[in-house]
Amino acid sequence: MKLAILGTGMVGRTIAARLATLGHEVALGTRDPNASRARPAPAGGQTLADWLAANPTVALMRFDDAARFGDMVLAALSGGGAVETLGAAASGIGAKILVDITNPLDFSRGMPPSLFVSNTDSLAEAIQRALPDARLVKTLNTVNANVMVEPGLVKGGEHTMFVCGNDPAARAEVADFLRTQFGWTDVMDLGDLTAARGMEAALHLWLKLWGAIGTPVFGIKVVR
Ligand SMILES: NC(=O)c1ccc[n+]([C@@H]2O[C@H](COP(=O)([O-])OP(=O)(O)OC[C@H]3O[C@@H](n4cnc5c(N)ncnc54)[C@H](OP(=O)(O)O)[C@@H]3O)[C@@H](O)[C@H]2O)c1
Repeated sequence: MKLAILGTGMVGRTIAARLATLGHEVALGTRDPNASRARPAPAGGQTLADWLAANPTVALMRFDDAARFGDMVLAALSGGGAVETLGAAASGIGAKILVDITNPLDFSRGMPPSLFVSNTDSLAEAIQRALPDARLVKTLNTVNANVMVEPGLVKGGEHTMFVCGNDPAARAEVADFLRTQFGWTDVMDLGDLTAARGMEAALHLWLKLWGAIGTPVFGIKVVR
């Protein structure tokens, strides 16, 4: 499968590496490939140039070129840049499935971040309004990047991943993708995209749990 991962941060790199290892054709999207290749390493991290050398089958492209390349597009963008970036890539995304992993985090007042949209709206809904044809499915935003692609890091995978979106067939396709590609076993369909309000607001809880547990490698299990 041809997959476009828009975003060169921890999430984009982690997902791209995993999907390339599984044998997919993977494009990693960025604003300016040359500038991104030349950028110094983030604190405690690896330069993108070194990461690309370690993952030689992943192609670095501009966001719009990557979106055109992919049969499915996964958005791993900073929340603040997501609507503008995806809007600019809309013609390449068209009516494809768009997996939205973003969180609307606002760090302008320091830590912990607040949400720049919440309660009666969500970043996922704002993205869907900007790309009305895209079959948007929100998922994976409630776990750390390493857990996204390897849920077995936590209790052998015994924890819950949510999906929501306005297209039931797209939700089912993404749930299947999560199971077959990443090994998720407990995928819960929350229905239409208004569920993204709760999934994004869960970040407040997630941050407190991180503090209480002392590691970002954890999951949430829904039981009844
Ligand atoms: N880190 C995690 O474990 C985790 C877990 C769950 C959800 N998330 C969410 O996943 C998303 C990605 O997180 P991340 O930590 O991997 O990376 P990030 O630093 O939040 O975002 C990196 C990407 O955003 C792009 N970007 C930054 N500012 C932009 C702007 N103003 N306009 C357009 N693009 C912009 C960058 O483009 P360039 O490539 O051009 O620099 C880069 O590709 C975020 O929304 C985050 O909240 C993260």
